[in-house]
Amino acid sequence: MSEHTETKPPETAAPPGPVATAGQKPAAKVPAESKAAVEPDKMRRRLIWACVWGYLGVNFLMFLRFFFPRTLFEPETVFSVGYPSDFSLGVETKFQKQYRIWVVKEPDKLFVIYARCTHLGCTPDWKESENKFKCPCHGSGYTMEGINFEGPAPRPMDRSHVELDATGQIIVDTSRLYVRDPRAGRDEFENPGAFLTV
Ligand code: FES
Repeated sequence: MSEHTETKPPETAAPPGPVATAGQKPAAKVPAESKAAVEPDKMRRRLIWACVWGYLGVNFLMFLRFFFPRTLFEPETVFSVGYPSDFSLGVETKFQKQYRIWVVKEPDKLFVIYARCTHLGCTPDWKESENKFKCPCHGSGYTMEGINFEGPAPRPMDRSHVELDATGQIIVDTSRLYVRDPRAGRDEFENPGAFLTV
């Protein structure tokens, strides 16, 4: 009797994963490569949505911005500085910061100097001890009447329009200026409105 030895094929280990039961279709196998491709797709989709929402958000903020316009608050150009009797002889500087003017009272007249250097437009300072206006930018000097006498300023400082209202208060209008410019043959300092007689 010959010895018959049967060689069985080696058993291969089943791959891990869902096992199909009887009557069930075997689950579709997802290739490892396409699984890896799903993650970048998700990321790309998130990134696109983030861009869309960001874009819409910025546009919405810009839309809201229209309801809050930037307003430039210019100082008033017409205002009251009080009664002539409120001023003593000399230069009153208390309106400089708010209105950029000085009120100058002399024995027979009152006028208002617009505080702007005629060289390049800086605001000079009143030097009480030296009885003059001095421009800090390039050193122009002006008398108490605003007449230039030193430095590069080419002409006196301008004067603002002044008038009395019905109650006797001084109304200043800095949008109406009176100019003295010898080079142009122009002198408006004695014009009505350039001063008040007191
Ligand atoms: S701006 Fe006043 S001296 Fe130049």
